[in-house]
Amino acid sequence: MLDQPPLQLAPRVSRLRRSPTAAISQRVAELAAQGRSVTNLGEGELDFDTPQFIREAAHAAIESGQTKYTAVSGTPALKDAIVRKFADDNGLTYRTDEVIAGAGAKPLILNALMATVSEGDEVIIPAPYWVSYPDMVSLCGGTPVIVECARDTFLLSPDALEAAITERTCWLILNSPNNPSGALYSREALAALGEVLLRHPHVLVLCDDIYEHLVYGNGVFATLPEVVPALKDRCLVVNGVSKAYSMTGWRLGYAAGPRTLIAAMDTLQSQSTTNASSISQAAAVAALSETRSFLGDWMARLTERRAIVLDAISRTRGLSADPPGAAFYVYASCAGLIGCKTPDGRELANDLDVATYLLDEAGVGVVHGAAFGMSPYLRIAFAVETATLKRAMDAIQSACAKLV
Ligand SMILES: Cc1ncc(COP(=O)(O)O)c(C=O)c1O
Repeated sequence: MLDQPPLQLAPRVSRLRRSPTAAISQRVAELAAQGRSVTNLGEGELDFDTPQFIREAAHAAIESGQTKYTAVSGTPALKDAIVRKFADDNGLTYRTDEVIAGAGAKPLILNALMATVSEGDEVIIPAPYWVSYPDMVSLCGGTPVIVECARDTFLLSPDALEAAITERTCWLILNSPNNPSGALYSREALAALGEVLLRHPHVLVLCDDIYEHLVYGNGVFATLPEVVPALKDRCLVVNGVSKAYSMTGWRLGYAAGPRTLIAAMDTLQSQSTTNASSISQAAAVAALSETRSFLGDWMARLTERRAIVLDAISRTRGLSADPPGAAFYVYASCAGLIGCKTPDGRELANDLDVATYLLDEAGVGVVHGAAFGMSPYLRIAFAVETATLKRAMDAIQSACAKLV
């Protein structure tokens, strides 16, 4: 057989890590395939079914022939629904040429960065952060500037923001409610960040609001351009149906912002993914247009699960956590386990070691804090039903009790 010439990959690929959350899911699947009983608390995806009225809208779209290419940035019906959503939920007025729909929030964020970040530009990313932001910035030739949030609140302080801004700063990425910490910025916290941003007119702000509707108790969601209208012209608000409607697989996100930026994102999308699935777009019109009455039940179930996780953590040696204000993650400190030894004598030197030990010993997949830029923590996603969650948390507790 002739030797194959070595395949040369482009340098841009070597700048990227494989998504750590996908890596955990893969490892869990491998162990399950070997016959191990494993529970994945590493997945950023709700286990609830997509609400029926949305599924019906998708069926109707298929039956009525809405199965062809649409306008790249979305159907007129969807763009109208997005414009109405921003007006009704967030008090933000956009024209239809200031909004775009795409195949998930993720590609929209990448396109926004592709459209604006030049080699050497800096993007401020508060840590802990959603795993994809730094890699996307690197892919665009930019420099991720990681700024640690306060460890008691997981919020970015105005002083830390001020100190991070330079003349090369292109974006601040603000993700509230936050993945992985569940931290929710209050109107006051946003206003304080807004004051800093108003002093630096060259900085754009990407508000990733994808967990907007998953807020606990009396928490109130707000987005930066609503609180500080003077910043609206340099904010890109990104949202989608993945989390609030349990539609991760439908791949439908949307964004609103300055017309020039939206037009550039449209051009990039026209040469890559083109329009989001026409069927998912029709489903999203239904999702965004109806009342979210199903959310009451979902939040009650998530509140119960959150309590299960926090209660188990309070009984687990070496772990600690405060209740998250939103989303479906607990970002638990595992500082008390670092330096401990496993029953077979291995030292847990960092949060990856702890996560690996829990997968091997307890059969539970969680994601280590280093993946989100703040250690030593574990992100525990409570997106499985209560009996499974209780069993998994008990297994974590027993595994931690065995450490010496
Ligand atoms: C903070 C954050 N932004 C964006 C996304 C991507 O959402 P989508 O499924 O719409 O691409 C996720 C998904 O995990 C997320 O956690």
